[in-house]
Amino acid sequence: MIIGKAIRARIGSNQVLRGIDIEVQAGQMLAVIGANGAGKTSLLRALSNVIALESGEISFDGRSTAGRSVHELARHGLVHVPQGRQIIPNLSVRDNLLIGTHHQGLSVSEVNERLEQEFDRFPVLRQRQAIAGGSLSGGEQQMLAVSRGLMMKPKVLMLDEPSLGLAPKIVRLILETLRSLTREGLAVILVEQAAVLALEYSDWAIVLRNGECALQGDAASMAGSQALIEGYLS
Ligand SMILES: Nc1ncnc2c1ncn2[C@@H]1O[C@H](COP(=O)(O)OP(=O)(O)OP(=O)(O)O)[C@@H](O)[C@H]1O
Ligand SMILES: [Mg+2]
Repeated sequence: MIIGKAIRARIGSNQVLRGIDIEVQAGQMLAVIGANGAGKTSLLRALSNVIALESGEISFDGRSTAGRSVHELARHGLVHVPQGRQIIPNLSVRDNLLIGTHHQGLSVSEVNERLEQEFDRFPVLRQRQAIAGGSLSGGEQQMLAVSRGLMMKPKVLMLDEPSLGLAPKIVRLILETLRSLTREGLAVILVEQAAVLALEYSDWAIVLRNGECALQGDAASMAGSQALIEGYLS
């Protein structure tokens, strides 16, 4: 579904990605693990063309992403749930959910159908649909951020540290929701520092360090290399 080869990117004079290979097929979840500054967010930004590649190739759903805009890629199903959630605090929960759908050319009934689907997925969002997004708890805001992404009917959903600041119980609820979506064919790229939890839910994992891939493998064997991974996280 998404394949990146030898991805290199710099931000200013800072070489943030130094030749990364990545592949996630439909129905799979890939964990991207790494310490602060390892290049996790930069990798997601490079995959969705928020930052330009210096070299390397990315194909999404069988087509090169070169020269395509972030919005066009999102319309085709490459959707990014950003680090820090980026809920718009003064907009209602409902309006936050609608943000991503405005450029998709959907009918009112299609939009309402998708809203209902998200309200069924996270019933707390239905209860709180009229209140300001900023007044939700951290966990509810993360559910809202995930639902806002799912409103766009993604083929690939990229999540940047969804567990940050949340109780494990809520993180598990969100990861279980994503896992059930992979069974319907969604591909997920899960960026996390919470390595144990991420490996438990993923099929494959890569560990980034200093813009490079330090370790990779299937999640089950990576879980056996926990001590090694902790070394890269510290
Ligand atoms: N806007 C920017 N300008 C200059 N350097 C940046 C910018 N954003 C990120 N960097 C640098 O790029 C490198 C990778 O950062 P990135 O945000 O991708 O890491 P990360 O793995 O997502 O870290 P975190 O876990 O803290 O979110 C770091 O050295 C960081 O300082
Ligand atoms: Mg980051």
